[in-house]
Amino acid sequence: MSAVSGRRRRFKVGPVTDHPAPLVALLDGTLLDPTVPLLRPDDLGVLRGEGVFETTLVVDGVPRDLSDHLVRLAVSAEMTGMVVPGPDSWRRGIDALCSAWTGPRQVVLRMVASRGPEGASEPVCYLLAAPLSPVSARQRTDGVRVLLLDRGFTASAARAAPWLLAGAKTLSYGVNMAALRHAAANDADDVIFVASDGAVLEAPTATVVVAHGRTLLTPPTDGILDGITVRRLFRVASAAGWSTRTETVPADQLTAADGVWLASSARLLAPVVAIDGVVRTDAGLTAELAALLDVPA
Ligand SMILES: Cc1ncc(COP(=O)(O)O)c(C=O)c1O
Repeated sequence: MSAVSGRRRRFKVGPVTDHPAPLVALLDGTLLDPTVPLLRPDDLGVLRGEGVFETTLVVDGVPRDLSDHLVRLAVSAEMTGMVVPGPDSWRRGIDALCSAWTGPRQVVLRMVASRGPEGASEPVCYLLAAPLSPVSARQRTDGVRVLLLDRGFTASAARAAPWLLAGAKTLSYGVNMAALRHAAANDADDVIFVASDGAVLEAPTATVVVAHGRTLLTPPTDGILDGITVRRLFRVASAAGWSTRTETVPADQLTAADGVWLASSARLLAPVVAIDGVVRTDAGLTAELAALLDVPA
């Protein structure tokens, strides 16, 4: 591992009841002082966003959909030409981190693999745990006001240009964060990216889900991340009698939908309560879907 090993210190977790700072662990389970730097200044993750990551929610010590996240981490790594440790290695560190956690019951767990300095033989891998932010928790019930923003290419163009890494979960989230800042500057909370042919793509950190009656729709994964939360939602909703379909969702049909949500691993399910300033409802469906998705209170 190409970390600043000289400065790395074992971090003993004291009898604390809350964690204003995150907990950090290496995959071998070593807990690190979160205030001590781990990456070198010339790590390509820092210099160029070269790396991959996953985020999931841990509830009462149990990470949700962990196998799916570890599979997707490996897929993202392969798309970026990186070799990351296998699932068992990640699980060892995650177990240690979850056992050490004594903070709130809902924890956002990040699994990170940064490419390391030029020529490094292996990436720098670590785990980060932090309490779910109050904003994310609140958006599950209060919802999000979104802007529709042009992504500048079609879903199929992204498929024809794999170097865009459109479906990989990489550390290059600068564009996504810029879109969120644009939303904040324009009296909105989030964004739905729209392809140049008018098809709904995804949000900067979430998958879009739409309801028409008792049918849930989500866009195909061409050019967007293959969302794990929507996968779980579709599984539990179809077991409860909903129809679920993966198909192109034209952005101009969002207004007519009975409900629109952003689905993601930490926030889980946030109803869209306004699109481009036009207020909309969720037809009372959010509570039902949240219960199916087992969203914690
Ligand atoms: C770009 C993007 N799309 C979709 C999602 C939702 O994916 P998941 O439900 O697996 O968290 C995320 C999650 O962070 C994301 O970053």
